[in-house]
Amino acid sequence: NTPAGSSDTPSVETTPAAVETTPAASVTTPAATGEFTTVEEGKLHMSTNAAFPPYEMTTDDGGFEGIDVEVADAIAKKLGLELVVDDMGFDAALTAVQTGQSDIAMAGITVTDERLEIMDFSDSYATGVQVVIVKEDSPIQTVDDLANAEMIGCQTATTGYIYCSDTPENGGYGEDHVTAYENGALAVMALVNGQVDAVVIDNEPAKAFVEQNEGLKILDTEFAVEDYAIAFAKGNTALKDAVNNALSELIADGTVQSIVDKYITAE
Ligand code: ARG
Repeated sequence: NTPAGSSDTPSVETTPAAVETTPAASVTTPAATGEFTTVEEGKLHMSTNAAFPPYEMTTDDGGFEGIDVEVADAIAKKLGLELVVDDMGFDAALTAVQTGQSDIAMAGITVTDERLEIMDFSDSYATGVQVVIVKEDSPIQTVDDLANAEMIGCQTATTGYIYCSDTPENGGYGEDHVTAYENGALAVMALVNGQVDAVVIDNEPAKAFVEQNEGLKILDTEFAVEDYAIAFAKGNTALKDAVNNALSELIADGTVQSIVDKYITAE
């Protein structure tokens, strides 16, 4: 992992916050100098699963919004590129970046040792933790009670699914007790409809889903805190370095925090 700002690639010129969508010809950006190439010239393709509020979700007019979308957009502008959001399943979003169909994957993706073997990650820009959503009147009232759940709903290929589907010896509940859903909203719908007894998902999306649906609540858990980062194809160091440079500037100048504050109100 390259510590922020310690990369030996030339650092990106700091431009004012309001950068134009199309790069001005006079601005020297990493993309313009051919430091790296992208899937489509002039564009930064981000694969994601846009059913994960407040990180990525669709807007009523068919666009995309959320913390990841806005941070990626700010990074793209610093690189002299236009952001293109490619929405798909979470596992497909990871595969797309590994196979070079997207430039980055950004989807509240947790950095794990297993994933580090097959893809590269930027510096972390946020953290999350897996939590448990149940119906308010559920017999499951603590994490220990999860062991009694007939069925737990998770999102396909996520850390929540990986923890829960592990064997009981390893702290999981066994594959037979976990159903994987295409996205978090579908898992929560299954909980509301009584098809699963609990949903294990990241904390901020959990809050959003509990707000959107009546009669649900979140249990306190002791899962480990996870680092979210941007994923790249393994070995795509030129793009990773450029993104890390842009990201560290956006963290340093408060842009990332102001995007987070826009979507997450302090408790
Ligand atoms: N943080 C979890 C993981 O990396 C879940 C991410 C799911 N993201 C999404 N956009 N659906 O496995």
